[in-house]
Amino acid sequence: MPAFIRPAVDADLDAILTIHNAAIRNSLAIWTDVEVDRADRERWLAAHRADGHPVIVAEVDGAVAGYAAYSRWRERIGYRFTVENSVYVADAYQRQGIARALMVELIALARAGGIHVMIAGIEAGNSASIALHESLGFEQPVTLREVGTKFDGWLDLAFMRLAL
Ligand SMILES: CC(C)(COP(=O)(O)OP(=O)(O)OC[C@H]1O[C@@H](n2cnc3c(N)ncnc32)[C@H](O)[C@@H]1OP(=O)(O)O)[C@@H](O)C(=O)NCCC(=O)NCCS
Repeated sequence: MPAFIRPAVDADLDAILTIHNAAIRNSLAIWTDVEVDRADRERWLAAHRADGHPVIVAEVDGAVAGYAAYSRWRERIGYRFTVENSVYVADAYQRQGIARALMVELIALARAGGIHVMIAGIEAGNSASIALHESLGFEQPVTLREVGTKFDGWLDLAFMRLAL
């Protein structure tokens, strides 16, 4: 069944929380090992709304299969036309084109919102995410070595850039 891409609503927060905490627990995509509660995701959604930044979900057969969002890349005013994106798809729904569908919509929203550059910050070993962003036209990664740590190892951060 094809995914239906739409803005996130409060009722999606439990599914978003489950996907977010699974990524904290099982992956190097989010550099913390402290899982969050629903109130944390409520604040996250509210902050995006307040800033006019989209949070979108992919719905498959009535279930939230994944989500994507962007927020300011850095805080100072001079960075206001650059955003950093994130995209997460639940394990059971991966390799079905859902992240691509989410990102195509997110990029369209960024363009419509007058954003100039989108940045993806990716753990350098995450070949799935790097391939995804490459296929969407993001430039080759620029990597900062050993700037993070999780699961007792140093992590490299790859930045990929899409000019909108
Ligand atoms: C990265 C992630 C979002 C991809 O989601 P997905 O819905 O499975 O991706 P899609 O099916 O839309 O794939 C789109 C493209 O991404 C690439 N890709 C996705 N998964 C891949 C994998 N496991 N290995 C290699 N390439 C992969 C491919 O280029 C793919 O195109 P193709 O299917 O035509 O080959 C998903 O694996 C995920 O949520 N991972 C955990 C969280 C994460 O790493 N998020 C990104 C943080 S920066």
